[in-house]
Amino acid sequence: MIDDIELSQRQAMERVETATTLEHLREVETEVLGKRSQLSTFKALLRDLEPNERKNVGRAVNAARAEVERAVGERRALLERAERRDQLESERLDLTESLTSYRVGHHHLVTQTTELLEDVFVGMGFTIAEGPEAETDWYNFEALNIPKAHPARSMFDTLYLDLNEPESTVLRTHTSPVQIRVMDATEPPIYTVAPGRVFRRDTADASHMPVFHQIEGLVVDRGITFGDLAGTLESFTTEYFGGSIHSRLRPSYFPFTEPSAEFDINCVFCEGAGCKTCGRTGWLELGGCGLVHPNVFRAVGYDPEVWSGFAFGFGIDRLALMRHGVDDLRELFTNDIRFLEQF
Ligand code: PHE
Repeated sequence: MIDDIELSQRQAMERVETATTLEHLREVETEVLGKRSQLSTFKALLRDLEPNERKNVGRAVNAARAEVERAVGERRALLERAERRDQLESERLDLTESLTSYRVGHHHLVTQTTELLEDVFVGMGFTIAEGPEAETDWYNFEALNIPKAHPARSMFDTLYLDLNEPESTVLRTHTSPVQIRVMDATEPPIYTVAPGRVFRRDTADASHMPVFHQIEGLVVDRGITFGDLAGTLESFTTEYFGGSIHSRLRPSYFPFTEPSAEFDINCVFCEGAGCKTCGRTGWLELGGCGLVHPNVFRAVGYDPEVWSGFAFGFGIDRLALMRHGVDDLRELFTNDIRFLEQF
């Protein structure tokens, strides 16, 4: 009988150890330890045995049950751990996908162009200056030799801010007020460029935007001539566009420079041969320039008999378009990612 008990224990243990789920284990447990189990029937048989034998067999049955119970406990703990692991695994969030599809952005074309321009001018010995986008009438007009009622005011479609006296505060119409701020703050010699955002009351079309960007140049030193201006713009042009593109100056008018000129470069699309973009002239207009007007020097307290200088200003956005062969200014401000990511 002892052998039968041992055999029954071994079979029970085997069943316990092959249970694969907690539910399966519960079924096995009732089968091998429950009222109808073999081990329980041995207990019922004890009654009919000799007291001595009953003691031995009873001990064997109890030991067998204890072993099987221990095996069930161990198996349960194991299955519980496995089940918990499976659950965690199934609930795991796969974050690697969002990591791999994450793309690093880059600077906007206008920012890239501004930085490249700064690099070229810094390479030529210029420093970088900045000024505010909201300006007073003094900086945007008056100090630049454009008094109130001067006809040149109509050159600029000005946006006024509803601040202080009427028409006393403007969104700057050009970067030229930074010339005044730089001269206010420092003594010559000055070799500075000032990039920035400017504003005009314009309706958006392929070549106009109410908000755009300019870069201003200002040089103040002794004995500066128109030749220095022409040479500086030519060096800049060949440096920025490569050796095949050159510059030219055409007489023009600005209140803050005298003489004044329009600054053109060879058309970058046809390299001067004449095409649709340049209106068959072979030239593209980039901006204005000239020698600083004596009245501008007087406005900042510089002696025009001692100091001379030149200034220039041109559009950054148009330059970016020319360099990349884009024909609509609005593309730069629509911020369509499919357009922007090409640059
Ligand atoms: N400020 C002028 C403009 O916006 C350009 C310019 C700058 C002209 C400096 C001469 C000297 O049109």
